[in-house]
Amino acid sequence: MSKATILVVDDEKLICWSLKENLQKEDYEVLTANSGEEAMEIIEQERPDLILQDIKLPGADGIEILEKVKKLREDSLVIMMTAYGDVNTSVKAMKLGAYDFIEKPFNFEKLKITISKALETVSLKKEVHVFKNQQKSLYGMQNIVGQTEAMKNVFEMVEKIAKSDATTVLLQGESGTGKDVIAKAIHYQSKRAENPYLEINCTSLPETLIESELFGHEKGAYTDAKAMKKGFFELADSGTILLDEIGAMPMSTQAKLLRVIESKSFKRLGGIKETVVNARIIAATNEDLKEASAKGTFREDLYYRLKVFPIFLPPLRKRKEDIPLLIQHFINVFNRDFKKKVQGISQKAEEMMLRYRWPGNVRELKNVIERAIILENEEVILPEHLPIEITQPEKALSAASSTVSLPSEGVSLEEVEKELIQQALAAAHGNQVHAAKLLSMGRDALRYRMKKYYLL
Ligand SMILES: Nc1ncnc2c1ncn2[C@@H]1O[C@H](COP(=O)(O)OP(=O)(O)OP(=O)(O)O)[C@@H](O)[C@H]1O
Ligand SMILES: [Mg+2]
Repeated sequence: MSKATILVVDDEKLICWSLKENLQKEDYEVLTANSGEEAMEIIEQERPDLILQDIKLPGADGIEILEKVKKLREDSLVIMMTAYGDVNTSVKAMKLGAYDFIEKPFNFEKLKITISKALETVSLKKEVHVFKNQQKSLYGMQNIVGQTEAMKNVFEMVEKIAKSDATTVLLQGESGTGKDVIAKAIHYQSKRAENPYLEINCTSLPETLIESELFGHEKGAYTDAKAMKKGFFELADSGTILLDEIGAMPMSTQAKLLRVIESKSFKRLGGIKETVVNARIIAATNEDLKEASAKGTFREDLYYRLKVFPIFLPPLRKRKEDIPLLIQHFINVFNRDFKKKVQGISQKAEEMMLRYRWPGNVRELKNVIERAIILENEEVILPEHLPIEITQPEKALSAASSTVSLPSEGVSLEEVEKELIQQALAAAHGNQVHAAKLLSMGRDALRYRMKKYYLL
């Protein structure tokens, strides 16, 4: 980090000089000013990181100068040097935005600590600010592509919800249609953006863990609860919680969630104190919750409560006009990431992509472009850069069916099944919904088999 610059403003030249000597020894860059006007000029030109200002300056009230400094640069960090016992002025200075005050005559060691603490706070604040701005631009709408009516409606809904006080949102869509990106866009476009965004995947955790993640627990609430823990509802204060794969949430947890949504308050597990909830809940799912509630695996009342603000993300095969746009978008993204210069896609390759059904939706398309850009060095993506299921779907099918043949010594079907399930889970990085898709089975069927083979 470069040296921090401190501006000392005092009409007593001796004080300026001695502070300069001492602070330079501490490795600060030090500027001095003997009057208010001089100080303002330096602040405008040099943008010091911290201002150490005497409250009594000739020809002007130190408080007035502080006000001017703050007007000039709102984020100026000012420490006032006040006369011993002048509490009123010190309080006034703090109210006007001074960071701290130090009484004269001061102890240099104490001043040193005050300065370094103040500078630390500022650099932390700056880091947080930069990080938040990065998040905002990363998850803003500018990175979400779509021009079909269906997607325009989605974007409109996102904007409306982001601006509103709606506390529950239901995001439905097949795997890979963009539920995660839309949930983040809602959060980062809303006035909640400065507060936490937390997500929990309901398929990956057993019941007690989901509940303790969401509601927190008191010490001793259950056998493993060795210490008090805050849950998402407490941590995401005024922020957003994404409940991913809500269809997999256990029925008893669904009941508790509904209670929290309706009463707008919750208790930690094993606790008695009700705490107000002001987190926005975005529930995402690729299941048909209406059907699930008809079957009795999802609470109907919770479904109706969630779907007050519904967003439906159509599968890619139902919005093919977005395909060329998405192709170009991902070409730009991966050109940047991998420092390549791919210009576009050939007409033939694009036609093939338009014909394909995209069971993995936008995620699959993104992966196809990424692969083509990493592996190839051509300026244009050609059919031979695309996977066989896109270029020759009939061949891919027959290839798949003929790759399996029974060895003459026979085989244990269960062993094969277990092996394939493990491979699918590894390929899907543990995401059961994706793994189930790779095996063309439902998530429940996969979980049943995982239990059977002790993979859970
Ligand atoms: N409209 C879009 N524009 C740009 N990128 C998109 C769009 N939709 C999805 N993506 C990208 O596709 C990938 C998959 O999207 P996302 O993770 O949001 O899907 P999902 O619906 O949450 O899937 P799953 O149900 O499997 O969790 C992400 O990398 C995302 O950035
Ligand atoms: Mg997702």
